[in-house]
Amino acid sequence: MAEVSELAQALRTDDVSQPLLSVQDLAVTFPTDDGDVRAVRGVSFDLRPGDVLGIVGESGSGKSVSSMAIMGLLPKNARITGSIRYRGEELVGRSYKQLQKFRSKHISMIFQDPMTSLNPVYTVGWQLAEAYRAHHDVSRKAAWAKAVESLELVGIPQPDRRASQYPHEFSGGMRQRVVIAMAIINDPSVIIADEPTTALDVTVQAQILDTLLRVQQETDSAIVMITHDLGVVAGMVNRVQVMYGGTVVESGGVDEVFEAARMPYTIGLLGSVPNPQLLGKRLTPIKGAPPSLVNLPTGCAFSPRCPLVVDACHDGEPQLVQTDHPGHRARCIRWEHLAGLESPQRLFAHDEIGVVEDPASFVEVNPDVPVAQDLADVHAQDEQERTS
Ligand SMILES: Nc1ncnc2c1ncn2[C@@H]1O[C@H](COP(=O)(O)OP(=O)(O)O)[C@@H](O)[C@H]1O
Ligand code: SF4
Ligand SMILES: [Mg+2]
Repeated sequence: MAEVSELAQALRTDDVSQPLLSVQDLAVTFPTDDGDVRAVRGVSFDLRPGDVLGIVGESGSGKSVSSMAIMGLLPKNARITGSIRYRGEELVGRSYKQLQKFRSKHISMIFQDPMTSLNPVYTVGWQLAEAYRAHHDVSRKAAWAKAVESLELVGIPQPDRRASQYPHEFSGGMRQRVVIAMAIINDPSVIIADEPTTALDVTVQAQILDTLLRVQQETDSAIVMITHDLGVVAGMVNRVQVMYGGTVVESGGVDEVFEAARMPYTIGLLGSVPNPQLLGKRLTPIKGAPPSLVNLPTGCAFSPRCPLVVDACHDGEPQLVQTDHPGHRARCIRWEHLAGLESPQRLFAHDEIGVVEDPASFVEVNPDVPVAQDLADVHAQDEQERTS
């Protein structure tokens, strides 16, 4: 009983100075036959009402495992340490069942594949209504009305009629809107969107991101937007965390991180963003592969791929340190050197794979990718050098 009233009290507290969600030094390890997979190592962030935090990194960097840890959805063999507090309430150590009341009501998640959240054999209206009734003592009729209202909120035309349809009767984009409706129907304070638009084509992506932001503003929730695509977060988030090899390597305001990155990996990521001004030109992905999470490199995890590596980088894993901007931190011992470079993008400039195939739709989705001009300059310079 004591636990329940403590919890109720924590949930009533509306102290704006207290983060909604506070993740501190989160680590997740999976024991396997090949050794311990250190999927997440020391991830920390605070989320306050209205925050839109982007978590960015290549595939395998620990983004989904971090969010599944917050949701209490990791497999039983996962070893989780650190702290995940929701309005001050510790979630680490709670059972799947205990966390059920947090899921969807307080913290909800949008997955990349809509069918993770939707059941093909029930109408979407029924599923939304049941999700609502799981947390509210209302009649079926009232829950149905709520379902229709939430479909309307996410921009589904003719929501009354559409509520009676099955998931397969919706297009990919419309189905992802239904998933957003499902995620917000219980008015959660935190929405974690894990690559919510990766499976969709670019124009639909733009509409879905727009819908998410509108819903976030209407409900004053906070969003964690997880993606491997920096272009997706550029116009959407106010803070960014860049992940590499299971840990945070750079974090700060979106302008600082995108325009004054202090970690070579981030510069490399920015360089691999498709660039509308480089139609037919090559992109510059980072050479090499992400580290093994069983055998991490000694010292800086990025050292095998880093163009600025020096001997000292192997001495131990660099700390996440404050840079020259407030609230902007980087895990690099050479961030000051990087800050002094005139064209840091050139660090990764090389001719390899990739061309921008559809610049028109890219611009539509990413109206203000901040690096576009810089990169165009770099490539123009390269071109000049090659031909002179
Ligand atoms: N159940 C598991 N057992 C072992 N390794 C896992 C498990 N789940 C995820 N991993 C590993 O953890 C790492 C991080 O995965 P993930 O968080 O899904 O990356 P992403 O950043 O692409 O979302 C990957 O190397 C993945 O293979
Ligand atoms: S610490 Fe060294 S290897 Fe790591 S990112 Fe910085 S310069 Fe590169
Ligand atoms: Mg993932």
